[in-house]
Amino acid sequence: MADIKQLLDNNKKWAENMKRKDEKFFSRLVDQQSPKYLWIGCSDSRVPANEIVGLLPGEIFVHRNIANMVIHTDLNCLSVIQYAVDILKVEHIILCGHYDCAGINAALEEKEHGLIDNWLRHIDDIHRYYRNELDALTDVRAKRARLCELNIIEQVANICNTTVVNNAWRQGQRLSVHGWIYNVGDGIMHDMGVTVSDIAGAPGIAPRKRA
Ligand code: CO
Repeated sequence: MADIKQLLDNNKKWAENMKRKDEKFFSRLVDQQSPKYLWIGCSDSRVPANEIVGLLPGEIFVHRNIANMVIHTDLNCLSVIQYAVDILKVEHIILCGHYDCAGINAALEEKEHGLIDNWLRHIDDIHRYYRNELDALTDVRAKRARLCELNIIEQVANICNTTVVNNAWRQGQRLSVHGWIYNVGDGIMHDMGVTVSDIAGAPGIAPRKRA
């Protein structure tokens, strides 16, 4: 149990250190959070949201799952998006994927992984949409990397096509959706250049209109 106690000791030191740098840091956070960003990323321990973009507690609202997916019927993720957009009024949603994603790699394998294969089925769908492009890549590392990128493009589209984001744009709310990819091997983030900031830019089928 020594290891787990270490975490609590670390926490005490961290809190003391934060207070030493800024005496009112925690008392300011008690009243409210007003983050400008929503981060949707992979659960991977190597991709900690706040840390790699240099933000403090209170500055970024976070949702993470395996392979950073935004599934149309995932009430968990959709509720996070709704709260972030409707209540917190975040100005940016960052969909952050990463190279060497175990979820993406697993989806490219033929063996079974148990329950998680149902979740990874969504990655298989993306594989199917881009079959020609991916099949042309004979190097498995290149194929894995490209599927990580394509997954980000598709998840950005899924965010843009949610009713929450559609309605926010229709009401003139300022909101941009970004797709970023993080390189675990060098710590550098890359903007994939797929930012969407209005309903006209939402990919895919025309959004439904309210009656
Ligand atoms: Co991952």
